[in-house]
Parts: sequence; structure tokens; C-alpha cells
Amino acid sequence: MSDEVKKGLMGIVVDETTISQVMPEINSLTYRGYKVQDLCEKCIFEEVAYLVLNGELPRSKELKKFINEERDNRKLSKQILNDIKNMPKKAHPMDAIRSAVSLMGLEDKDASDNSPKANMRKAMRIFAQTPTAVAAYFRARKGKKFIPPNKKLSYSENFFHMMFGKVPKKEIVEAFDVSMILYAEHSFNVSTFTARTITSSLSDMHGAITGAIASLKGPLHGGANEAVMHMFKEIKSPQKAKSWINNALDKKKVVMGFGHRVYRSGDSRVPTMKKYFLKVAELMKNTKYPEMYNTLEEVMLERKNIHPNVDYPCGPTYHLMGIDTDFFTPVFVMARITGWSAHIMEQHTANKLIRPLSKYKGSEHREVLALNIR
Ligand SMILES: CC(C)(COP(=O)(O)OP(=O)(O)OC[C@H]1O[C@@H](n2cnc3c(N)ncnc32)[C@H](O)[C@@H]1OP(=O)(O)O)[C@@H](O)C(=O)NCCC(=O)NCCS
Repeated sequence: MSDEVKKGLMGIVVDETTISQVMPEINSLTYRGYKVQDLCEKCIFEEVAYLVLNGELPRSKELKKFINEERDNRKLSKQILNDIKNMPKKAHPMDAIRSAVSLMGLEDKDASDNSPKANMRKAMRIFAQTPTAVAAYFRARKGKKFIPPNKKLSYSENFFHMMFGKVPKKEIVEAFDVSMILYAEHSFNVSTFTARTITSSLSDMHGAITGAIASLKGPLHGGANEAVMHMFKEIKSPQKAKSWINNALDKKKVVMGFGHRVYRSGDSRVPTMKKYFLKVAELMKNTKYPEMYNTLEEVMLERKNIHPNVDYPCGPTYHLMGIDTDFFTPVFVMARITGWSAHIMEQHTANKLIRPLSKYKGSEHREVLALNIR
């Protein structure tokens, strides 16, 4: 057995999957064989969520049933709503949402049933209830009253309704829907691998998703969309963008929203998300962020040949939609629940306990000395 260390499991193929394929050589990402760009153009998020979870695009009747189920499952119990209301207001929203999903597990009647049917039921409930939890905490920490979900509204419309009490223009809802599609799934990234690792001990779905949320929070993963906006705010104006980025690179800083472990010549999701970011900016008559966006992108390419990842356009898009910066990653969670759930179910169908090895480089064998002579 080789004891060569592969830090970060770089380049290691650990399992098979039928859910999504990242193809860096041709700059492509497919969900269940469909190009993500085509899904963004031709489908609403609910159709893509169905596809990720079930393996096929829904026919009309199936979509209707799925949409109704999502709408029927949006409500949180009084207890969980109260728990969210009482959460510390200064907590990071990712920690609040991680705790909320964990709480959902305490109440779920299928909590420890890992059968395919029970897992699908739990996936639907977590999928439908997480936006309610995100919006509830968003409002609670501002001292605002909770707005209950509205069954007449689509997934994305309802999210805006619960956050702000109104549904914005259809172009805004569409851009949000597209971001949900693009964030839904991305093969064996760190949070998905976390979910699969937790599942591999035959633990439950709520636990696996709770762990995945903790993993997504980090700035090297999902937390990058929040970090991108902090960077834009720090730069302040497009005129300062060039000197800011040059200075950051001179100091060998990691620039958030750029680079990717798998894509080395561009993230396949970026052109679509950039298009919708520019649409939203135009609608809001905002030129500042697109200008900054282009300057940073140009310098990163010129000096480092590093391309932006999907978090780069998502950050300023969510900002222009009125979402607080530290809520960007919880929004990512809402979308990625579909991918995580699909991977958890896939792991169960052909499970093997995930247990890698390590190369020991600590002390040699030594004798335990009695306390008084150590
Ligand atoms: C995503 C990321 C962790 C991938 O990391 P990785 O596969 O381990 O690649 P490395 O960190 O080894 O990067 C390789 C080289 O590119 C540089 N690099 C990679 N991303 C960079 C970035 N965002 N800014 C500046 N330099 C970067 C590294 O410094 C390294 O340079 P070196 O060889 O001179 O040391 C990394 O690109 C990063 O930290 N990006 C910023 C965070 C981010 O946007 N994350 C969201 C990912 S979807």
C-alpha cells in the first residue's frame, strides 16, 4: 500500500456518481446529463430541483405534484420559529441556518429512517423549510415580524415575499432563480463530500446536511460569495479597483471569487450568472459594481491567469437584490440542499464507509512516566 500523501485529496477519484459531471477540459457542467446553461434557459428552479433529486426532468403532472409538495411543506413548527426568533442576533446567519436544520431533525418523524422513501420525504421537507428558516432569521435579527410563506407563489417569489414582504420585478426573480439553478449541484465539492462522509457511517440526512452547511460556510467554499461583497465594499469605487487588486496581488493575497480546484480555465457557470448580474445591475441603474467586476477580472487574468468562479457574479447580484451580505451563503444553502440530498441518497444506494488513512509523523513509541516524574 502506497503511503504517498495526497493533500486535499487532490486528483483522487473516491466514488462514482450519476448526479452531475464537471468537465473542466470543455468548460462544461451537466446535471444528470443536461447542460446547466440549457437548464437555466429552459427551466424554472423547481424543475431542476426535481431533476437533481429524481434523475429525470419532470413531466407536467410530476412537476405540478412536486411544486404542490414544496408549497405544502414550507411551514416551520411554532417551536422552531420561536427558536429562530430567540437565536442570538449577532450570530452568523450560516450558524443560525445550520442550527435550524439540525432542529428540524429533532422534530422529523422520519429522522432516523434511511429508507429511500423516507429520505425523499425528508429531502422535500428540508428543501421547502430552509428558505422559511433563512427569511425568519433575516427578519428576526432586524426586529421585524415573521412573514409566513405564501402557497400561491413560486419558490423564488415566495422567498422574496418572506424576506421583504413583496415580490420584486420578474427579471429579479428570474435572476435569483438562475442563481439557484447554478448553485444546486457541483459533484464532489467539500460540502457534498462532507455530507457523503457523514452518510457513509449510516448516519441520518439532517445530520449530513447540518455538517454540509458547516463546510459550505468556509470562505474557500460557499463563504466566498459573502467575501466577494466584502471586497467590493472595501474597494468602494471603480476608480480604486485597479490599484486595490494590484496591491492585493503584490502582497500575495488570495482574491475571493477567483480560482477553482477543478476548473482551471474558467468556471462554466460564470458566463450565465454574469449575464444575469449585468441585467440586474442595469435594472437597478447600477454601473459601479459591473465596472469594478470587469476591472478585477481583467487584472486577475492578466497577472495571474486566474478566472472568476460562480461566487464572483453571485455576490454583487444578491447585494443589488437587497439581501444582507452575510445571508449570501445561506441562500447558497437553499439551492445546494437539492444536490446534497441527492448525494446522500446516492451514497445510501451503494454505501462504503469513508475512512482514509494518514501517514503518521508524530513521536516514536515512548514510555508513560508516572505523574510525579514527568
Ligand atoms: C478555490 C481555491 C481554494 C482552489 O484552491 P487550490 O485548488 O487548492 O489551488 P491553490 O490554492 O493551490 O492555487 C494555485 C495557485 O493559484 C493561486 N491562487 C488560486 N486562487 C487564487 C486567488 N483567488 N487569488 C490569488 N491567487 C490565487 C495560489 O496562490 C497558488 O499560487 P502559487 O502556486 O504561487 O502558490 C482557491 O482558488 C481560492 O482560495 N480561491 C478563493 C476562494 C474562492 O473564491 N472560493 C470559491 C470556490 S468556488
